[in-house]
Amino acid sequence: MAKTIQAIRGMNDCAPTESPLWQWIEAQVRQVLASYSYSEVRMPLVENTALFTRAIGEVTDVVSKEMYTFWDNEEQLTLRPEGTAGCVRAAIEHGWIYNNEQRLWYMGPMFRHERPQKGRYRQFHQAGVEVFGIANPEIDAELIILTARLWKMLGIEKHVSLQLNSIGSLEARANYRTALVAFLQNHQGLMSEEEKERLVKNPLRILDTKNPELQKVLDDAPKLLDYLDDESREHFAQLCSLLDAIGIQYEINSKLVRGLDYYNKTVFEWVTTALGAQGTVCGGGRYDGLVEQLGGHASPGIGFAMGLERLVLLVQEVNQNIPVERAVDIYLVYQGEGTTLAAFQLAEKVRSALPHLRVMLHASSGSFKKQFKRADKSGAALALVLGESEVQNNQVVVKHLHGGVDQQVVDATQVIDYIQAQF
Ligand code: HAM
Repeated sequence: MAKTIQAIRGMNDCAPTESPLWQWIEAQVRQVLASYSYSEVRMPLVENTALFTRAIGEVTDVVSKEMYTFWDNEEQLTLRPEGTAGCVRAAIEHGWIYNNEQRLWYMGPMFRHERPQKGRYRQFHQAGVEVFGIANPEIDAELIILTARLWKMLGIEKHVSLQLNSIGSLEARANYRTALVAFLQNHQGLMSEEEKERLVKNPLRILDTKNPELQKVLDDAPKLLDYLDDESREHFAQLCSLLDAIGIQYEINSKLVRGLDYYNKTVFEWVTTALGAQGTVCGGGRYDGLVEQLGGHASPGIGFAMGLERLVLLVQEVNQNIPVERAVDIYLVYQGEGTTLAAFQLAEKVRSALPHLRVMLHASSGSFKKQFKRADKSGAALALVLGESEVQNNQVVVKHLHGGVDQQVVDATQVIDYIQAQF
């Protein structure tokens, strides 16, 4: 036998048994976004590398270590590690933003060369939202309220909590950075080489450290919220009071800075303790400088993205009440002369009249016994049976595969009504 070829590490197949759950989750996402009047956009999976370097920031983990980058003749290209940069690029390129508010969403695969583990993959899927042209905290609140509604629809609302912070203006962050570096200089003895490097290149990321000793020290470090500019402070206060009024609970986490450089003011993450180390199911924030930074006319922006693999894992973990759709409702069993064509015709007639039902034609030969075994295994509720005598008499035998009702002989002209009454 020829040697088999395996999937790339960290890039997963979705099995036919798993796809119904994915489809159900994706349907909830689409439904909630439609009910807030957001519009779908679809962007390419590949963009110029420079787009991500400029948008996400050269010293971030994503850009410095995790991008799948290659040369296509003279152009350096990258598989998208996230959706915001491409969405902003598209919005500028097509003039979606100017004199216009836009509330957009996208869903699809993203690529990051990370070390795979539960909940962290090299190809993963995000559903993301980007809103352009609205500076008010109302839209920050709307995004959070929308996600909270989705958690309820997915039955995971008791297992996620909201972390909220404001990282202020560029200037406020620069002032804070100076204070943080001055504080951390005295604690370099506790730092790994990587953390020491971060202290120089991207010190705010040290706030995310997993190193327990450093975490303890950070409790006494200067707080970002104390360095906020007045406008950001007011924006954050308004957001918090809106969330309070609407009854959304949150924890203000002054160490939350997010791993991408484009953010300002509001940042947030929905986290769970049910998935181990990869507990962030959704993250986002405001990026009021990004459109201008990528060459557009200045326009405020805000968005978030959720990891669909993590949502699938969490729903599997905590929600036992997912409506499972049957893969097959009706199985067509047939044997004998003239029955193949009759079975095709009957299957097409049922599909035309009752398009919501899933109809499977046996399509491979075998005794009636073998065919019924398959029908049972398929999970179908009904088998429609055609033998030579049924075809000659223009009848269909209907067998109820889950018992309870005796087998019925139904006139072919009545069969649609009969089936309809069973579902
Ligand atoms: P992010 O925090 O890098 O933000 O990713 C958002 C979410 O994608 C994470 O919270 C996580 O659920 C999921 N995710 C990220 N990396 C992986 C991975 N390797 N495997 C599985 N899931 C993963 C962004 O991507 C921003 N573009 C979000 C945003 C949109 N901010 C403003 N607008």
